[in-house]
Amino acid sequence: MKIFLDTANLDQIKEAASWGILDGVTTNPTLVSKENMKFEDLIKKICQVVPGPVSVECVSTASKDIINEARGLAKLAENVAVKIPINLEGLKATKVLSQEGIKVNTTLIFSSNQALLAAKAGTAFVSPFIGRLDDISHEGMGLVDEIMAIFNNYGFATEVIVASIRHPLHVVEAAMTGADIATIPFGVLEKMVKHPLTDIGMERFLKDWEKVKR
Ligand code: G3P
Repeated sequence: MKIFLDTANLDQIKEAASWGILDGVTTNPTLVSKENMKFEDLIKKICQVVPGPVSVECVSTASKDIINEARGLAKLAENVAVKIPINLEGLKATKVLSQEGIKVNTTLIFSSNQALLAAKAGTAFVSPFIGRLDDISHEGMGLVDEIMAIFNNYGFATEVIVASIRHPLHVVEAAMTGADIATIPFGVLEKMVKHPLTDIGMERFLKDWEKVKR
């Protein structure tokens, strides 16, 4: 499973990249609004740090405008993937942009029919938001299972990005579904490496090492 970082924070991105496990980044308007930097400069910098895809969201709502905005965003760096919310205008834009070779990440996916239509329009990625479904008492990971089954049934090349991840167990569950990618907040990624027994074991080994005759 590829690991993307769900943030627009450069320090977090640099840090995660230094761990050698980072395959890409996803941003959205909420995440970029937290950073004190000019939007385009920020995206260019992120794209330099991360060799893989960096999702950048379009905020236009009519297909013509989405297409123009997406073409502009795609020019910022070679590894930009344009994020487009799922709706009819987004689908129209996705078809045109995909044919031009621009990678689209269809976002705000909350049903498998939305994912199916986005895949048919040629999107490179779909982003089901599982945490937000869990928030309203719907089984978020069930949606990922459905989408994986549908994409496998028909051999769609579209990759599934499990998004809106809230805790390490979500990552385990995402990996169990066989999803291509999990996009993970920095705090959750940090937690994934930790285990209290690892800390206790390390402490004991280091203490015992002091007793070894050298
Ligand atoms: O990248 C978008 C998605 O991961 C948002 O997550 O926590 O705002 O539902 P959240």
